[in-house]
Amino acid sequence: MEVVIGAPEELASLAAGTIEALLDRKPEAVLGLATGSSPLGIYDELARRHREGRLSFSRARAFMLDEYVGLPLAHPQRYRNVIEHEIASRVGFGVGAVLGPDGLAQDVVAACAQYEEAIVRAGGVDLQILGIGTDGHVGFNEPGSSLASRTRIKTLTEQTRVDNARFFEGDLSQVPDHCLTQGLATIMGARHIVLIATGRAKAEAIHHLVEGPVSALWPATILQHHPHVTVLVDGPAASRLQLADHFRSTYAAKPTWQGL
Ligand code: GLP
Repeated sequence: MEVVIGAPEELASLAAGTIEALLDRKPEAVLGLATGSSPLGIYDELARRHREGRLSFSRARAFMLDEYVGLPLAHPQRYRNVIEHEIASRVGFGVGAVLGPDGLAQDVVAACAQYEEAIVRAGGVDLQILGIGTDGHVGFNEPGSSLASRTRIKTLTEQTRVDNARFFEGDLSQVPDHCLTQGLATIMGARHIVLIATGRAKAEAIHHLVEGPVSALWPATILQHHPHVTVLVDGPAASRLQLADHFRSTYAAKPTWQGL
């Protein structure tokens, strides 16, 4: 697990540069897209590079991490719409190139199985962008999630619903109770995982992710078992890392030709 501590703009640029390099060598790459505020800087940077003609997503495909259950098709907080607005429409993905779990499916079990099959048929995810919840969730794999889980329906915790109420005009009653989410094993199938977190509210989750024991209580800790994870954090999010100085000096000494 590589930990890079830097300013938010620097982190967004590093992640975008890694995606640019991936698309250069593999234009048909498969990306994993996350919602939440954490990846927005990366999406802005990708949009800027796209406008400058530096990178094209015309042959790329993408899979979303998760989706609320039951939000109407046109609801602005439906994650499919959020992803369309924040990234897909800004960088020119082809029609049908971005898929997400179907939060309106009648047969949820079948929809989740089909989603897993679609990821396999696409050849798996090359690079997964991840945020992290204050309780250590990734996707919507809340504490207690099976470390071997696949895409399925989950109940959101009270903490996550409170955290996310800001996207629903602060009205907790508008936040759905359920979601569909890629499982932890699904996420672990990505070839490279880039997790980004900023702000002090994420410091405890980042400490557990990087330095804690692997436990379903902090679901992101499963990433310690992945061979290629990059954790991008700003100073406040890194403030509880015992090894922060080590991570800073290691990254400072890293040759510039070596990517993430
Ligand atoms: C949501 C999403 C997660 C995201 C998390 C953190 O619950 N399902 O994918 O990582 O929120 O969001 P933020 O980046 O806004 O703190």
